Amino acid sequence: MIEIDNISKHYVVDGVAIPAISGISLRVEAGEVFGIIGVSGAGKSTLVRTLNLLERPDSGRIRVDGSDITTLSKDQLLRYRRKTGMIFQHFNLISAKTVGENIRFPLKLAGEYTRAEMDRRVDELLDLVELGGHRDKYPAQLSGGQKQRVGIARALANHPKLLLCDEATSALDPQTTQSILSLLLDINRRFGLTIVLITHEMDVIRRICDRVAVLDRGVLVEEGVVADVLLHPQHEITRALVQESCPSATTGQRLGLSGPLFRLTFLGAVTYQPILQRISAALDVGFNIVEGVVGRIKETPYGQITVQALGDAADPARIAAAFGEHAVRCEALPS
Ligand SMILES: Nc1ncnc2c1ncn2[C@@H]1O[C@H](COP(=O)(O)OP(=O)(O)O)[C@@H](O)[C@H]1O
Ligand SMILES: [Mg+2]
Repeated sequence: MIEIDNISKHYVVDGVAIPAISGISLRVEAGEVFGIIGVSGAGKSTLVRTLNLLERPDSGRIRVDGSDITTLSKDQLLRYRRKTGMIFQHFNLISAKTVGENIRFPLKLAGEYTRAEMDRRVDELLDLVELGGHRDKYPAQLSGGQKQRVGIARALANHPKLLLCDEATSALDPQTTQSILSLLLDINRRFGLTIVLITHEMDVIRRICDRVAVLDRGVLVEEGVVADVLLHPQHEITRALVQESCPSATTGQRLGLSGPLFRLTFLGAVTYQPILQRISAALDVGFNIVEGVVGRIKETPYGQITVQALGDAADPARIAAAFGEHAVRCEALPS
């Protein structure tokens, strides 16, 4: 659906050129939730803003459903933007307008609806984001999560095909973040809406994204299905981002432990099977779980745990082979 082909963009500050993104190529499929992660200054906002031409790339092409958006006429671009919603970290609501008026604003701009149609659509959107009773309130009377719900309702007003999210949950507390992410996922599924979201938090990626791209200093360094990138990060910056969301040691030394240590990665239903117990019984070794996480990547269960094998009978090669039958990955950690 979206094909980004070798785009670059720089800014000029005090006569000095600052590259923001360099030679980025990406493909986003219709209906997926595509995440872009990177630390502050990596170029995420610049990249996502090129998708509705809030920033125009210096070079390269962006094709959406086959047509190059950088060549659209003014009218065509306005129409395209109407079908591309965007939400922001700081919500960008108009503080002098009520919730209802904020949501109505893009409908008015579209100039295609009667008053009654706009009223109906605003009510429909308020229901969708569960803000039924808040139509006549002002943004200042709302919590952060409620403000972002208004932002989402406004972004969806004209039935967009694409929703761009620039750090949409970064200003929210963890619980509110979860509820906004659930809402985004629900919208993605109900309406088949394509979502491109940028974040600096791997947990956001883990919760709702199908695929992810990692940006570092304007360059795309890694890209793939979320489970692959999260469980087997290749690039140093990706490892650092994963480590932040679920710390795990890479060596026995870092854990302050010696003896045979294994890091096991499970994905899917096997995550909930008593593998440790079975292998322990079969090989007559004990296991000490020294670190780990069990959770979900979107809906898929996963576990990544580090175990220490106990007892004289512990033969690392045999243990690794036994784990290898169940785990998607079994790494012996250097001690
Ligand atoms: N409007 C701007 N003017 C000048 N430099 C900018 C502007 N916007 C972003 N930059 C610079 O471009 C780089 C990428 O920024 P940005 O796309 O905002 O990254 P991110 O969203 O990942 O934090 C940074 O070095 C930033 O300072
Ligand atoms: Mg940004």
